[in-house]
Amino acid sequence: MGTTLKSLAQAIRDRRATPSFDGEPIPAGDLRQILDAGLSMPSGYNIQPWRFVVVQHPEQRKRLRAASYNQAKVEEASAVIVACGDRDGWRKDLDEVLRMGRAGGMSESYAAQAEEFVPSYLSSFNADQMAAWLNKHVMIAFTAMMLMAEVMGYDTAPMEGFEQQKVCETLRLPMSYHVVALLAIGKNQGPDKFNGGRFDMAHTVFGEEYGKPLK
Ligand SMILES: Cc1cc2nc3c(=O)[nH]c(=O)nc-3n(C[C@H](O)[C@H](O)[C@H](O)COP(=O)(O)O)c2cc1C
Repeated sequence: MGTTLKSLAQAIRDRRATPSFDGEPIPAGDLRQILDAGLSMPSGYNIQPWRFVVVQHPEQRKRLRAASYNQAKVEEASAVIVACGDRDGWRKDLDEVLRMGRAGGMSESYAAQAEEFVPSYLSSFNADQMAAWLNKHVMIAFTAMMLMAEVMGYDTAPMEGFEQQKVCETLRLPMSYHVVALLAIGKNQGPDKFNGGRFDMAHTVFGEEYGKPLK
């Protein structure tokens, strides 16, 4: 476990989408700690449909930048975690999910229910439903990685500005992969980004039902 520099509350307060990085390499141990935070997150039936490609090599960062509307921070970052979902992961992984679950105390009735339900539920999805299901899970892991990086004193930039097909080709991703977002990690260089502010809680949070203020 690396040195924790900030509390989570402080990291959440301080985090800004980083405009520019200094490109210094990130120690492998730190990167693993950040990745591990994402891999520890929950997922429906523990299917873990997320997949991540970590891009660090300067040439590959340059290629990824070209697939990301030429956003300079893709090339400047120490590492870019390309967060993907695997539409077919569950087909191969369900047996292992159940094996791990049993090893951790999953009951046979739960295992039997999952074995029956997961394939019928996920194979019924159309393309849009599958994309939404993958996005939901991948972004939980993505957010945990972003916050762990911030807690460890790194700066981060989440990105949706990329071309799906070009990123798939650049990283030679399997056909079943869907790219959800890019997470650039490193140290900020130059001035920090402005704070765009957030809506007041009354604008976005309700109590008990829509339109009622939270007491
Ligand atoms: C999923 C996601 C995708 C984003 N994509 C981009 C992007 O492609 N390029 C960019 O410069 N900023 C991107 N941003 C950063 C947002 O513009 C930024 O988070 C927002 O303006 C609020 O600023 P703050 O993060 O500094 O509070 C993205 C943010 C999120 C959460």
